[in-house]
Amino acid sequence: MSDLAPSTESVATLVAQFERELAAAKSARDAQSVRDRYLGRKNSIVASWMQLIGSAAPAEKKNIGRYANELKQAIDARWTTYEEAARDAAPIAGAVDVTLPGRRPLLGHRHPLTVVRDRMEEIFTRMGFAIVEGPEVEDEWHCFDALNMLADHPARDMQDTLYLGAPIPGGGGPADLRTLLRTHTSSIQIRHMQAHTPPIRIVSPGRVYRRDDLDLTHTPMFTQVEGLVVGEGISLADLKGTLLAFAREMFGARSRLRFRPSFFPYTEPSAEVDISCWSCDGAGCAMCKKSGWLEILGCGMVHPAVFEAVGYDAERYTGFAWGMGVERVAILRYQVEDIRLFYENDLRFLEQFPY
Ligand code: DAH
Repeated sequence: MSDLAPSTESVATLVAQFERELAAAKSARDAQSVRDRYLGRKNSIVASWMQLIGSAAPAEKKNIGRYANELKQAIDARWTTYEEAARDAAPIAGAVDVTLPGRRPLLGHRHPLTVVRDRMEEIFTRMGFAIVEGPEVEDEWHCFDALNMLADHPARDMQDTLYLGAPIPGGGGPADLRTLLRTHTSSIQIRHMQAHTPPIRIVSPGRVYRRDDLDLTHTPMFTQVEGLVVGEGISLADLKGTLLAFAREMFGARSRLRFRPSFFPYTEPSAEVDISCWSCDGAGCAMCKKSGWLEILGCGMVHPAVFEAVGYDAERYTGFAWGMGVERVAILRYQVEDIRLFYENDLRFLEQFPY
């Protein structure tokens, strides 16, 4: 409370003092209490000046009333200015409050098929293989003819293969070749050998397409990883050693392989390879249907007809190749019963593989 007597000077002094105190206020509450000390209805400076009027000499009443009024209006005006400025500076409702703790962003992760494919690529890359990709839209020659799959091969049937019809514009192939969605990644072998001379060590992952209806174990599109090694003196022992090294990295150090004679037009001899069941270690369980083995890939020594198709000297070079399904490995690895789950993108499924 001020004991200054009402006068022109004391009004100026008090207004200046009010401005200083208001400027020093640290919060809206502080500012309000400064205002109340000057303007409040009780116990404020303006209120005490008003009270003086009652006991003042009649001649003084008018003057005191005038000073009290001047003080009240001056303080009021400054308070209004202060409040407006404070309101302008205050955050707009709904605006970002930078002082709030941040929201944790939802971190995604790789699709389980990508995890398996990446792991395969990583293992083969460390063994000295290069990753080579090729077109999903192929022509018959790269997909079939060059792989020694002759005109009457059942895979070439319209019932199995999705033909696109017209030749790829500027594709460089003979004009009468039909185009198709590749049915296997083996076509990449051909493209790579056409463009490179041995030694060759490549792994080719990619999508392949077949005219299959959707069911528990089939999708019209799936993923394969193809491998090819070509050089001088490459033998079946190299094939077995390479695949065994891969299997031990991918499925565990105790893995064993079993080679069963088979047939592919582009390899001779050909084999289908089973791996000892990593769930029961070969003893027999539900996953391997009690056999102790899981079928995992097809492979063989590159057929001389394939080397001839790409212009390699089949007397000089030998090589091996294999192809395996990524979905098949993922299904076994993660014990997924329905292949369609990999393509439905249901987060309740995908979130079970947070790798
Ligand atoms: N192309 C075969 C398939 O789609 C897989 C395959 C088998 C690839 C033997 C090869 C191989 O390179 O030598 O089922």
